[in-house]
Amino acid sequence: MSEYNLQVLLKRRPVGEPVEGDFEIVEGPVPLPGHGQVLVRNRFLSLDPYMRGRMSDAKSYAKPVELGAVMEGATVGEVIASNDPAFAPGDAVMGGQGWQRFCTMDGAKLRKVDVNEVPLSANLGVLGMPGLTAWVGLEDIGEPKPGETVVISAASGAVGQVAGQIARARGARVIGIAGGAAKCAFVKDELGFDDCLDHRGDLEAQLDAACPNGIDVYWENVGGHVQAAVFPRFRDFGRMVMCGMIAQYNIAPGADAAGAPPGPNLGPVVRKRLRIQGFIVSDHGWQRYPQFRAVMLGLIRGGQLTWREDVVTGLAAAPRAFIGLLKGENFGKLVIKVE
Ligand SMILES: NC(=O)c1ccc[n+]([C@@H]2O[C@H](COP(=O)([O-])OP(=O)(O)OC[C@H]3O[C@@H](n4cnc5c(N)ncnc54)[C@H](OP(=O)(O)O)[C@@H]3O)[C@@H](O)[C@H]2O)c1
Repeated sequence: MSEYNLQVLLKRRPVGEPVEGDFEIVEGPVPLPGHGQVLVRNRFLSLDPYMRGRMSDAKSYAKPVELGAVMEGATVGEVIASNDPAFAPGDAVMGGQGWQRFCTMDGAKLRKVDVNEVPLSANLGVLGMPGLTAWVGLEDIGEPKPGETVVISAASGAVGQVAGQIARARGARVIGIAGGAAKCAFVKDELGFDDCLDHRGDLEAQLDAACPNGIDVYWENVGGHVQAAVFPRFRDFGRMVMCGMIAQYNIAPGADAAGAPPGPNLGPVVRKRLRIQGFIVSDHGWQRYPQFRAVMLGLIRGGQLTWREDVVTGLAAAPRAFIGLLKGENFGKLVIKVE
């Protein structure tokens, strides 16, 4: 094969905001599949906020990427060669092949996808880990009911756009929060949320106007000043789905006290009988993937679920795009088109 591999490695652990020099881009030979293995050519790579955690060796729910190793990440691609009878060249597959062009994997770690159902890259977003996160968090924690008010932060992003549309399909009134007029217009006009508030403006006043009776479910993606504005507006028996707090991911360990934005006063948790629960989608989410996929495809066919991707071309552009994701520069689910 005259092709060569391209890989993005973790060169050093960032302190604070990552920089491009924390990554190293290397060329190498295309690997050969071993016994029971499949050679995959990655077509799209998912970039997700959790990758910031993998760059750090601070204690977490998952192991960090080793220095000098390929950055971790979900991918979709095409089988080039297979030593596993379950896969044939040309099959479209999803898996966790990382920030690289080619990869060999055990067949058991790959999942075939049907490109007639949705475009290949959508298996990284609406039908991938972010979509699964949205569905699991609402099924298990948020449980929105018809007529309830649901507020979704980072509403134009990978998780937020799906969470809001699921909540709406269940009959809730859904208010998004996003950064800037263009994202807010998209959330309202194209995703069909009831309203979308710009967190760069006076968020407290906008929340009062949009949620005059308070908030039943808050989907937390962000933390910081957004959380501080939403939290006092919970109704009794409100639920807070603690999905992530991206505003804090670049704060160095040990600097939390000095660097973290002030959190809300938790006193009302008791008085209002609030439920605040965190979750990690990989705990039990993937066992429920077939059910999730069937529900999502039903919503897509019924015109109740749409999505936006932010596609950046070329693996070499991944470090820059990832740094931008942590500052809100993406608009929609961020994916790299691997060339
Ligand atoms: N618990 C789990 O299992 C799980 C799984 C997947 C994702 N997550 C979490 O879900 C959240 C959303 O992830 P995603 O993949 O859907 O990302 P995303 O929303 O597609 O992209 C991140 C968005 O967050 C906002 N943002 C970025 N930096 C920020 C900052 N410093 N302060 C305030 N807002 C900022 C930006 O939106 P605006 O421009 O609109 O502010 C940005 O577009 C993250 O916290 C992620 O860690 C958790």
